Amino acid sequence: MAERRGAGSAGGKLILCGEHAVVYGHPAIAVAIDRGTTVRLREASGLTLRGGDGAALRDARLEEAVRAIVAGDWEVTITSDLPIGRGMGSSAALAVALVRAWADATGEALDAAALHERAFAVERVFHGNPSGIDHAVSARGGLVRYRRTPDGPVLTPLPLPSWSLAVLDSGAPGDTRAMVAGVASRRPGIDAHLDAIGALVGEAEAHLDDPPRLGALLTENHRLLTAIGVSSTRLDALVALALDAGAHGAKLAGAGGGGAALALADDPEGIVAAARAHGVDGFVVRPRPGV
Ligand code: MEV
Repeated sequence: MAERRGAGSAGGKLILCGEHAVVYGHPAIAVAIDRGTTVRLREASGLTLRGGDGAALRDARLEEAVRAIVAGDWEVTITSDLPIGRGMGSSAALAVALVRAWADATGEALDAAALHERAFAVERVFHGNPSGIDHAVSARGGLVRYRRTPDGPVLTPLPLPSWSLAVLDSGAPGDTRAMVAGVASRRPGIDAHLDAIGALVGEAEAHLDDPPRLGALLTENHRLLTAIGVSSTRLDALVALALDAGAHGAKLAGAGGGGAALALADDPEGIVAAARAHGVDGFVVRPRPGV
């Protein structure tokens, strides 16, 4: 029988506003980005995981995540230009790409609901109790509002924005599982802040085409994320650096703790250049259109 092969790809994401609160049923807005992950599968003897350079990947959690989808003996090659632990959805892009690659290799039918459910199983391995927003936007692409409800996720596509975002790297990975658990442990004392984040997302949705107003809301979102204990002095400094360099607004991206900050600016390349002048690594990401 011919050796089976398959491939699948998916983009990363940035959460524009609403992270953490989204775990508790508040809305959040996220944008798929022009960086992503490709998974290639080739039937082999045993399960082997490789990076894009061909080097073996030995990571027990990664293997568990792959095993949530892949049955039997396969060589799994993962190529990605998403930095890990930067709030850019590297695990979600891997989850979606893996499910797509498996469907491609096995010929299994895959509709949007099945893709979401299977990728969720992978995300649970990585993050414990994720809201599902990361892999939902990774699978759909574009700009979306996401809400977790008792009846399932509600995903609302929004018009693709004309702006790009600057990403400033804190230099240290964040741990989404630990940050989400930390927020859970501080409830209900921080619930008023989570409610305020939810309300802010509604306001942001009304100003997606108004970078100065939207930027101010992003900075306010960062202040609320600091209040719930998921920022760091390094992330606060990156936000201040971006604002000093002329950004309309800036905030930590994703779970926080470490990771990256994002900034909305008329000249995102200028924000990245200012960051580099301070020894901070950064780059610009553009919205990835929806499928
Ligand atoms: C992580 O990218 C976003 C969080 O809100 C966690 C989640 O929604 O699963 C921090």
